[in-house]
Amino acid sequence: MKTNKQSNTCIDEIANGIYRISTPVPPQAIPGGFTFNQYLIVDDSPLLYHTGPRKLFPLTQEAINAVIPVDTLRYIGFSHYEADECGALNDFLEAAPMAEPLCSTIAKMVSVDDIAIRPAHALADGEQLSLGSKTIQWIDTPHFPHGWECGHLFEKTTNTLFCGDLFTQGGHEHEPLTTTDILESSEKMRAAMDYFSQTRLVHELAEKLALTSPGILACMHGSAWKGDGATLLRQLAGRLAG
Ligand SMILES: [Fe+2]
Ligand SMILES: [Fe+2]
Repeated sequence: MKTNKQSNTCIDEIANGIYRISTPVPPQAIPGGFTFNQYLIVDDSPLLYHTGPRKLFPLTQEAINAVIPVDTLRYIGFSHYEADECGALNDFLEAAPMAEPLCSTIAKMVSVDDIAIRPAHALADGEQLSLGSKTIQWIDTPHFPHGWECGHLFEKTTNTLFCGDLFTQGGHEHEPLTTTDILESSEKMRAAMDYFSQTRLVHELAEKLALTSPGILACMHGSAWKGDGATLLRQLAGRLAG
């Protein structure tokens, strides 16, 4: 569903109660074109996973309001500290008085409690949190793909791994959820932009994520993907190590 005609921001349900909000940026603004995706988990305690850049806040807010009132958000989560992950954090904390930042223990300690207008709710590695009918789990993955404080979020009832910048696909035209390969296009992006850290622990970190056996990879840039997520993560680790 398109929520803003000028920006072409769309919101689509990609799994039961999980919505992908995508704002495309055309090649005139970012070479090759790009997308910024945020994810809304609708439950008793609604969660927004990454805020999007601060300048996209009005569009992201408008899209959320098409599904639930933005002031009902309970958690504003993100993978690591970067503008497209949490640039609009304080705008959302102001718009949603009950909302808390949700992040890794390192992110809380190093950045979030300093810049956010309310203290963060930190999740330790492996810690679970009930949102009502859905349960999320935090997985620490330092420097994978980047950021000491980096981690990823898994939702158990839909088998969705919110994998942030992993499998980033360039371009600004993507279907919300695809079953076609995303590894090759994301590898092209990695070759062009070199946005992964140089961690030697890629196999261990990819394996931590693969052990969740995700059926959906909710990518921050490009299409979300449906398939055997464990196999794709192991293939990515092989490419990174090679
Ligand atoms: Fe990032
Ligand atoms: Fe990103």
